[in-house]
Amino acid sequence: MKTRKCSDREKAQLKRDALKFIIPHFASNQELAKGAKIFTRGKGCYVWDIDGRKYFDSFATLLTTVCGHNRPEVTRAVKEQMERLEFFPNYVDTFTEPLINLARKLADILPGNLAVSFFVNSGSEANETAMKMARQYHLERGQRTRYKFIARRDSYHATTLGAGSVTGLKWFREYFEPLLPGCLFVSAARERDRPPNMDSTTYGRQLLREIEALIQQEGPESIAAMIMDPIPGSNTGYPMPPQGYLEGVRALCDKHGMLLIFDEVQTGFGKTGKWFACEHWDVTPDIMTLGKGLTGGFIPLGVTVTTPKVAEVFRHKPGCEFRSGSTYGGHTVACAATLANIAIIEKEQLVANARVRGAYIRNKLEALKQRHAMVGEISGIGLLLAVKLMADRQAQIPFDPKLGVGGWIRDWCYRHGMILRNNGDILVLAPSLIISKTEADFMLALIEKAIRQASTRFHV
Ligand SMILES: Cc1ncc(COP(=O)(O)O)c(C=O)c1O
Repeated sequence: MKTRKCSDREKAQLKRDALKFIIPHFASNQELAKGAKIFTRGKGCYVWDIDGRKYFDSFATLLTTVCGHNRPEVTRAVKEQMERLEFFPNYVDTFTEPLINLARKLADILPGNLAVSFFVNSGSEANETAMKMARQYHLERGQRTRYKFIARRDSYHATTLGAGSVTGLKWFREYFEPLLPGCLFVSAARERDRPPNMDSTTYGRQLLREIEALIQQEGPESIAAMIMDPIPGSNTGYPMPPQGYLEGVRALCDKHGMLLIFDEVQTGFGKTGKWFACEHWDVTPDIMTLGKGLTGGFIPLGVTVTTPKVAEVFRHKPGCEFRSGSTYGGHTVACAATLANIAIIEKEQLVANARVRGAYIRNKLEALKQRHAMVGEISGIGLLLAVKLMADRQAQIPFDPKLGVGGWIRDWCYRHGMILRNNGDILVLAPSLIISKTEADFMLALIEKAIRQASTRFHV
């Protein structure tokens, strides 16, 4: 498709107006001071900016574009739906065909008996909904006292007030307190924090005892649910849990009548090499939240999916219905786009590609670590990978954050044609699931060049 060429004057005006009329999400004034980056076109794993520069996107457009940009199959599905019925709400007793077809499809691909969907507009809203669903579930069953949530330190579940209250990262919480009462935190539960003299299973058990102790202290009858991401996200470099931890959390929830909520907004839809991250441990939650890769980035949509057992509590008589909703939740065109996105994942076997390509990239990163002293832990699974930069790997000394080494590498990559996400000194590699071997090699070569430059710049 032809894009209209902007004159230099128009481009300059757009860049000025971006800063004047918009507050960006998670804004960084330091970055904005360098000017607005404006994107105009995408194809596959690549995007182009307003000046015509091409970038390989190693962060899949904020972890959304699982099947790449600009897929004619999705465009066709959206256009057809637009021409037939662009929107009718999922309101009181009304449904649309794409909505029902998508709900049926989700029931088919989701693990265990997760099969009943509540559609929203984003991952944030999906988590808000999951928390409300857990509370009302207990209320309908006569357990009004169950209102608390257990979450994990360093977890991210969104910036909204409810999901922000179970987010364990200080930066997202501190300006907005007091947050929702009754949100309790336990350890992040990362294999990487395991004491050197302890095996993984023993460490997992220790963490489970911590949760059990908290439940006993608060009283099991006060707790609605535990909310967690089976593999925490890019903020902390996809740390894996110790052995037996997720299975143990499931058992604790069952023992104490708490619901288990898995936030798979970031980890779902094939990125880990299975459709959903929890399938690596064969542990199924009572409620799962979905977003991001669900739609492939084409149109916003989120879903809170639960089991028939939980859903039944809201359906068995007038008056017990789940009290939640929004105008556009389950937007008709978003559902059509999502169905087309899922069809591409299936047809092109992108879940398998994430597994195979992810293993290839990981091996190459491990080799890179051997060649560069500043490369520390390589973490993650499938195509959700992270590289931790260290001042001294041997002595486990991190860089002084003030040096901004991760940001320097990100900027170097950007200048050389690649979008890279960094969280401080954690570099994230989470490209689209369509990534080819050639593209993977390009991404790895550029990272290595950037690391080599940074080694000289920061004297490692
Ligand atoms: C694990 C997790 N949960 C929830 C969210 C919130 O989703 P959204 O920002 O799409 O509303 C995110 C977004 O980054 C996420 O990574």
